[in-house]
Amino acid sequence: MNVLNQFLWVIYPYLCLAVFFFGHIIRYRYDRFHWTAKSSEFIEKRQLMIGSLLFHIGIIPVIFGHVGGLFVPREWMQAIGVNDHIYHIGAIYIGGLFGFVTLIGMFILTLRRYSKKSVRKLSSFSDLAVNSLLLLIIILGMYSTLVTNAVQPDFDYRSTISIWFRGLFLFNPDGDLMQEVPLSFKFHIIAGFGIFAFWPFTRLVHVWSVPLNYIGRSYILYRKHKL
Ligand code: HEM
Repeated sequence: MNVLNQFLWVIYPYLCLAVFFFGHIIRYRYDRFHWTAKSSEFIEKRQLMIGSLLFHIGIIPVIFGHVGGLFVPREWMQAIGVNDHIYHIGAIYIGGLFGFVTLIGMFILTLRRYSKKSVRKLSSFSDLAVNSLLLLIIILGMYSTLVTNAVQPDFDYRSTISIWFRGLFLFNPDGDLMQEVPLSFKFHIIAGFGIFAFWPFTRLVHVWSVPLNYIGRSYILYRKHKL
């Protein structure tokens, strides 16, 4: 394995995951009171609502798709009756559909952040960078799914990327598996790991603070004050 390969597919992913993990601990310890999604809803509501809704509706199935495609070995899929043909139909049509919804949502959110003067003024460098990076990752993912898979039908990411990816979590990654991977996938994955390194220092930390207790808690009743 050459030095670049070793760096990109062994050192870099671990570096990003380490920054992700320790970055959250440090941020929580020293900057707990700025741990927020930093809402800009009071400045502009309509585009935020549409963009955010589409992004979140799309990204959740996309995450499940990644778990299915990257963590679950092909043999396990086949054992439950999902052969290669069914898998690819699902990955391209269902993955493509939700990827498209995510893309439109992220496009609206990014456009809003750059073009709405008041939102832009309130945005930090990290707010702008996180939107741009997410948009880039999603475009590269969609390109890989819809274009690269069609142009290079012989390339199979489940016998290259997925095995390398699982190796990372087994502390035995084989960077050679990534050597022949098409560039669009490579850039998608490098940018994808990049967002994890960036995560603890951005508004993305709000993901870990979803107020799940709202689902089960009793209602707060607001009553008019009678004079
Ligand atoms: C960091 C590791 C990541 C790896 C190894 C990875 C790998 C992949 C692969 C192999 C595909 C092609 C799926 C197919 O054609 O069936 C894909 C597609 C895609 N990825 Fe990723 N990805 C990563 C991170 C991300 C992140 C962080 C995002 C979102 C912010 C993302 C969003 C997408 C989207 C939208 C698609 C296209 C739609 C789909 O197939 O689901 N990926 N990714």
